[in-house]
Amino acid sequence: MDKQKQIVMSGIRPTGFLHLGNYFGALRNYVRMQEEYTCYFMVADLHSLTTHPDTRELKENVNRVLAENIACGLDPEKVALYCQSHVPETAELYLYLNMLAYKGELEKTVTFKDKARLHPENVNAGLLTYPVLQTADIILHRAALVPVGKDQEQHLEMARNFVQRFNHRYGEIFPEPHAFNYGSELVKVPSLDGAGKMSKSENNLATLYLSDDDELIRKKVMKAKTDAGPTTPHSVKPDYIENIFQLMRLVSDQAVVESYETAFNNCTIRYGDLKKQLAEDMIRFISPIREKAEGIRNNAVYLRQVMEAGAEKARASARATMTKVRSAMGLNYY
Ligand code: TRP
Repeated sequence: MDKQKQIVMSGIRPTGFLHLGNYFGALRNYVRMQEEYTCYFMVADLHSLTTHPDTRELKENVNRVLAENIACGLDPEKVALYCQSHVPETAELYLYLNMLAYKGELEKTVTFKDKARLHPENVNAGLLTYPVLQTADIILHRAALVPVGKDQEQHLEMARNFVQRFNHRYGEIFPEPHAFNYGSELVKVPSLDGAGKMSKSENNLATLYLSDDDELIRKKVMKAKTDAGPTTPHSVKPDYIENIFQLMRLVSDQAVVESYETAFNNCTIRYGDLKKQLAEDMIRFISPIREKAEGIRNNAVYLRQVMEAGAEKARASARATMTKVRSAMGLNYY
């Protein structure tokens, strides 16, 4: 891979289905980054074991996430697209970093506290050291740029701490990783029920998944909350109406959006029509991705080829880093 380019690394958990929020918040950026950076995009199957010890659906989920990422435009020829468990060097680096991570700071992590509260019967050590494993993922490729959302900021701050400790103790091996996205604001994709953003697990009907079929998309969009419409010209849109417009701005032609803006401003808007239009434009956007992903998912030979090629690239970079790490740590005895 190109030595001059900066290194980007991110991980996607193979739990839940990818949705429109993932597309506009993450995937679309990854697709852009692959043209400008050396990119490592990884399916975090080991991380999923911290909360999902039952692995019956793992294979299917990993395949689906890979297929959906490719369907959205990630090119396995341009990036290293791989599974975490295919890069055993990850586990080795994780082990070394664990000696530099303190129980107290790990226990203070917000994601750890949330998960421990939700599942008090399964507060395992892997869950506690989740940010350490994530740090290993990133610095294994000596990546400095990590495209992630706000919810991962604390993990990155911890990653910087672990890196500083390592570098201080053993020598400057790793750059400090930082959250990285195009533009200052990440695109937020509002949910269809007028509250919050689209999410993997909450209210399924309010989230549009990249695997939803046309009928389901129509049904979800038509259920979005509206009201009788504005009665004074140029009024402020209520949140749930603004959300529908925001979704429309993501997938509809600008002229279409403008015509509905005008109709809203002069109080002639019919929300039934607005939603029908949005549904059809959503379908036009999602269905090619869904169909492409289905085609890839059904092509086991291709998926295997992608995983093997991705693992090969990731391991080459990992091996180079681990040689430096072992030598810096004094674990090279001959
Ligand atoms: N923790 C991330 C999440 O929940 C997934 C992840 C695993 C990750 N390893 C990573 C993200 C490395 C960025 C870099 O979404």
